[in-house]
Amino acid sequence: MIQPSQRLNQLDEGVFQELALEKRKLLASGKDVIDLSVGSPDLPPPPHAMKALVDNASAETSYGYTITGLPEFNQAVAQFYARYGVVLDAEREVLQLQGSQDGLAHLALALVNPGDTVLLPDPGYPIYEGSVRLSGGIPYPIPIDAETLHPNFDLVPKDVLERAKLMILNYPSNPTAAIATVEMFEQIISVARQYDIFIAHDFAYSELIFDNQPAISILSLPGAKEVAVEFNSLSKTFNMAGCRIGYLVGNAEVIGHLRKLKSHIDFGIFLPIQRAAIAALTTEWDGLAPQRAEYMRRRDALCSALSRHGWQIRKPSATMFVWAQTPGGQTSYSFALDLIRHAGVAVTPGSAFGPNGEHHIRMAIVHAPEVLEEAADRIGAYLAIHA
Ligand SMILES: Cc1ncc(COP(=O)(O)O)c(C=O)c1O
Repeated sequence: MIQPSQRLNQLDEGVFQELALEKRKLLASGKDVIDLSVGSPDLPPPPHAMKALVDNASAETSYGYTITGLPEFNQAVAQFYARYGVVLDAEREVLQLQGSQDGLAHLALALVNPGDTVLLPDPGYPIYEGSVRLSGGIPYPIPIDAETLHPNFDLVPKDVLERAKLMILNYPSNPTAAIATVEMFEQIISVARQYDIFIAHDFAYSELIFDNQPAISILSLPGAKEVAVEFNSLSKTFNMAGCRIGYLVGNAEVIGHLRKLKSHIDFGIFLPIQRAAIAALTTEWDGLAPQRAEYMRRRDALCSALSRHGWQIRKPSATMFVWAQTPGGQTSYSFALDLIRHAGVAVTPGSAFGPNGEHHIRMAIVHAPEVLEEAADRIGAYLAIHA
């Protein structure tokens, strides 16, 4: 039998597979599971984006290879980024991606040599570590301060900072839902300059920030384009996760490196999807504010209901995730397994996001408030017996 590569063997699949299997078993036995484990938006895309998709899908000329992104897509991204106070050169500073995941999975292959150190948030979205491992790089988890949820560089040894080549960050954060501040980005850029570390910032939740707090693109800071690129996506802002379209913006040289790598890997995105994305990015949509309000209602419904059951949870300021410490100090995996088995609620164990995620779970608020209250009641009933 052919064996997988050592590279592949470094990737983990345990946790998600086992939980998915558990869910399948429960559903097959007629039980009902409220799934809070996956951050796939349940809300509709903008109508003009769906119309552009349908109109273009019925044209015979839409079905060839697109090879690269349409220039209009890059211009649409540049237009959209004006909202963050960032001016982009549409040709050189924008690269279309098959979802930000595509870029996150491949950026390290374009930049990192075997043995290079890459700083990552811990807890952090799993592909950051996966991509570094696939490239042969050495991931170094940056401890995230438990209170501010920002990186604590004082805890990173100087020799690690000296040899680090790349740093990946994510605000608003999945899984912690922390948001960035200008001061934090200033500090990160100053560390990056001092130690010559390039920054890749994942801004996938840029439009899911609550309570009128500002969405800060790292590229809006002076000189940031010299040291940073930023990933963004149509998946969460416009509920187009299944379309697989996103982009990378910022430093033209790094964009060029990823563009070169991608020219060997894929032949572009289906034209109607590109047209739908252009429509989404360039049309003023009055759905964004109600969408934020809906996520806030969901957040409040879940957190308040859990609090009534005695589980106090910090309300997230952003994203579609509630990040919570497991009650009673249970490990995140055994608690998640108990919740799916005994409460019929699927959540993601925090350990899936790195060692610092241990003793936490992540709940995706991808259901209506009433469903989330039902999930909280089920969890409450479980806690009343087991806690
Ligand atoms: C932080 C973060 N970055 C990137 C992605 C990937 O999104 P997409 O590839 O759909 O743009 C996700 C998806 O959940 C995410 O949570």
